[in-house]
Amino acid sequence: DDKSTVSITVVGASGDLAKKKIFPALFALYYEDCLPEHFTIFGYARSKMTDAELRNMVSRTLTCRIDKRENCGEKMEQFLQRCFYHSGQYDSQENFAELDKTLKKHEAGRISNRLFYLSIPPNIFVDAVKCASLSATASAGWTRVIVEKPFGRDSESSAALTKSLKQYLTEDQIFRIDHYLGKELVENLSVLRFSNLIFEPLWSRQYIRNVQLIFSEDFGTEGRGGYFDHYGIMRDIMQNHLLQILALFAMETPVSLDAEDIRNEKVKVLRSMRPIRADDVIIGQYKSHTKGGVSYPGYTDDKTVPKDSLTPTFAAAALFIDNARWDGVPFLMKAGKALHDKRAEIRVQFRNVPGNLYNRNSGTDLDQATNELVIRVQPDEAIYLKINNKVPGLGMRLDQSNLNLLYKARYSKEIPDAYERLLLDAVEGERRLFIRSDELDAAWALFTPVLKDLEENRKVPEYYPYGSRGPVGAHYLAARHNIKWGDLGVDE
Ligand code: BG6
Repeated sequence: DDKSTVSITVVGASGDLAKKKIFPALFALYYEDCLPEHFTIFGYARSKMTDAELRNMVSRTLTCRIDKRENCGEKMEQFLQRCFYHSGQYDSQENFAELDKTLKKHEAGRISNRLFYLSIPPNIFVDAVKCASLSATASAGWTRVIVEKPFGRDSESSAALTKSLKQYLTEDQIFRIDHYLGKELVENLSVLRFSNLIFEPLWSRQYIRNVQLIFSEDFGTEGRGGYFDHYGIMRDIMQNHLLQILALFAMETPVSLDAEDIRNEKVKVLRSMRPIRADDVIIGQYKSHTKGGVSYPGYTDDKTVPKDSLTPTFAAAALFIDNARWDGVPFLMKAGKALHDKRAEIRVQFRNVPGNLYNRNSGTDLDQATNELVIRVQPDEAIYLKINNKVPGLGMRLDQSNLNLLYKARYSKEIPDAYERLLLDAVEGERRLFIRSDELDAAWALFTPVLKDLEENRKVPEYYPYGSRGPVGAHYLAARHNIKWGDLGVDE
């Protein structure tokens, strides 16, 4: 309303994430008229910069939606006029107190609400939270803090971080981002399950043979080796992004769509899972490769990575949920960098049709006849279901075809970036897509023992060439559970 205002402070304003995601997302929200009438955006970082310099930096990151070119330049200019810069140290209460003064000026006596987005390395998280909370908390309205992973690197360090944060903030004020939860098709998972009759009754061990969660990128850790080497792919992708998708996929029907109801169900799934066994994990690391005269670097060629690093850039794992719905159903995860393509998808492989009439005489491979539901999170968002179909003609021959919902064919509107949704939710106080601390604890409890095991035993990763399909061990792992990875066949 007219009496209140929101100040959004991006702490670490000159960093990569701020430039690539946060400012562009804020502009997109502004363009769509989603931000409150009175808002200001502050960049906070150590280097000296004027407002004009910040605006110039931000302006270079902004783009207009393809479907919204008209008056975009004008909107950008208006948006930039709302952006300001404040230079200060991340651990200086004094500097944050100065910020507080400046914010107050802009708030001009309105009820102030403040959102801090911490886009800074983990070792200065707590200091910045302390300073923001002690010196720059809103006096009348709410104060919220968005934090990005890494949230520790195992159960212990994560619990320590939570404890430190809670010295200065209540759980209600902490918005832990997992940006995969902001992706359109991940949010759609619950719609698919709970608003259609035909999926939910099949959503159990009775009809589902296995579920696959697949993440691949066709580039390496280029430039991020320093961060990555300390974490590895299991912490970077599996423990958060893929596990969050799994929890949403497998949870029971929540009491309502309220954040606490949904997060209660997710945490139940996580707590029903078996800690991952070292036998059920395979790890890999990419090595250099030359293709068509171009040579691609290996992981350890990165200057910021130790030459003898064993950090996995690829991993595959089998996980199990020990509850009545999912007992015995393998949930396979696969995540890797420097692979042959870029994708994130969920594959649901259904069981065989009992006594299938059409398999009796054909002698065809039974596997060919099972249904598979694919939810492609990116690129080219899609949901498709592989069904058996009669090839048209006088004979009786079956093949597999797709019932296909391809988003770009069905919807003309461009899909918002995950960060837009998450920032908007944080401004509105909607916590549904943020990670609660008990979820985080449960997620670490699953991964910590196996990570310790791999690291203490200095387990050597299987090396795979940059740009390949990853280590062959992933196939053996799947085969041990009688599964074939669904992403290897031709789908469309
Ligand atoms: C981040 C990881 O959380 O997600 C990166 O730290 C990864 O390693 C990125 O590249 C992938 O996100 P997206 O949205 O590009 O699929």
